[in-house]
Amino acid sequence: MEDINIKITDRDGVTHEIVAPTDMGMNLMEVVRSYELAPEGTIGVCGGMAMCASCQCYVISDTVLPDMGDDEEAMLSEAFDVKDNSRLGCQIQMTPDMEGLEVELAPES
Ligand code: FES
Repeated sequence: MEDINIKITDRDGVTHEIVAPTDMGMNLMEVVRSYELAPEGTIGVCGGMAMCASCQCYVISDTVLPDMGDDEEAMLSEAFDVKDNSRLGCQIQMTPDMEGLEVELAPES
């Protein structure tokens, strides 16, 4: 069992230091939900299928993340407020090498 320390800035600009488990198969969207960093119904709307972009976040740290899949890339190409460092939280599985990850939640769209 290994937990990692990550920082998540919510949509009000408040940064939360979070301890996330890496042995529970959780993705970043589920971590945000479990800590209630965004109101119910505003994140994870599609249930993590890369079909809603409600879990979009901006990656601030230089943490190396897995490459985007086709679904993620396609969804981000039609989402709002997309930046160069945008990712879909539901497509990022928590792993031990993401220690120190820092992200900011994209605005609700
Ligand atoms: S939860 Fe819908 S795209 Fe991530």
